Amino acid sequence: MRLYVAPMEGVTGRVFRQVHHRHFPGADRYYMPFLSPGQEHHFTRRDLREILPGEDREIPVVPQLLTRRAEDFLWAAGELAAMGYRQVDLNLGCPSGTVTAKGKGAGFLARPEELDAFLEEVFSKAPLAVSVKTRLGMKDPEEFPRLLEIFDKYPIVELTIHPRVRTDFYKGAPRQTWFQWALDHSGLPLCYNGDLVGAQAVREAEAAWPAASALMVGRGIVADPSLFRRARGGPPLGREELRAYLDDLYESYAGAFQSRRNAAIRMKELWYYLIGLFEDDGKGAKGIRKARDTGEYEAQVERIFHTLPLRQEARPVWNE
Ligand SMILES: Cc1cc2nc3c(=O)[nH]c(=O)nc-3n(C[C@H](O)[C@H](O)[C@H](O)COP(=O)(O)O)c2cc1C
Repeated sequence: MRLYVAPMEGVTGRVFRQVHHRHFPGADRYYMPFLSPGQEHHFTRRDLREILPGEDREIPVVPQLLTRRAEDFLWAAGELAAMGYRQVDLNLGCPSGTVTAKGKGAGFLARPEELDAFLEEVFSKAPLAVSVKTRLGMKDPEEFPRLLEIFDKYPIVELTIHPRVRTDFYKGAPRQTWFQWALDHSGLPLCYNGDLVGAQAVREAEAAWPAASALMVGRGIVADPSLFRRARGGPPLGREELRAYLDDLYESYAGAFQSRRNAAIRMKELWYYLIGLFEDDGKGAKGIRKARDTGEYEAQVERIFHTLPLRQEARPVWNE
């Protein structure tokens, strides 16, 4: 089954995917954190840094758009097609209050008729394949049957379902029976996303939903970059291998940001997930969190690698 890296704003952007792909090739696709095309129809410099095709041309990557205006979606899709992208993803999952208040992301799910009209226009004019990443609804999973009925009217190349509602944010158990329900009721290729942590969980999902087209993993692969390789029966993650990957990531961020300080800040965000790979009683996580400068950050990483045993599978510490 195909395995995708999930889009995570501020986490799985260009530097992450380049370094991850260099050390742990094998992800079938990397989804980009969302871009928000506005009515002025131009990409910001920050957007362009993320999307301009460069050395990662050989990495399979899908850009994602967050908007509820078909005109803006189509403008951005046209630009992306001209850059050589073959697929673009529509974000219908973002639960952030500032996004949903504008009727975007998961907020769009509360306006099914408007969503239908949006998709109608997008699919009549889109210059490249369009996939969708959705939740079950805003407040109640019972909103989903109507939404799926709408999705099924269009040639969505793949529908990724994160089976939570907006009010769940990323907490609580994903409502997995709804994914099975979707498999039973939709003709679209369906990708499952949500709380797959550890190789066993990935294999179980493959076995549970053989009719799914793909699995998408976010936090679980940030925590353990070797996840897909191991889920496919490859060798366990080595300490040196992990260290080389993290050093490369840190240096690559320092280069991209032209600042070691900002690179350390970004790495601290990644360590929020990564610490789950170590036998940590909380002191390692705290040391990283409290590091005030690059020197302290580097010393904490050194300490973790010298003192804490590596776990076979990451623990979802972010749920604790
Ligand atoms: C920090 C963070 C940023 C995220 N950014 C995006 C995003 O830009 N686009 C998107 O569709 N989903 C985004 N998500 C949701 C993830 O893609 C994914 O659906 C979610 O984390 C659940 O999958 P997981 O349990 O495998 O992490 C984000 C999640 C987190 C925690």
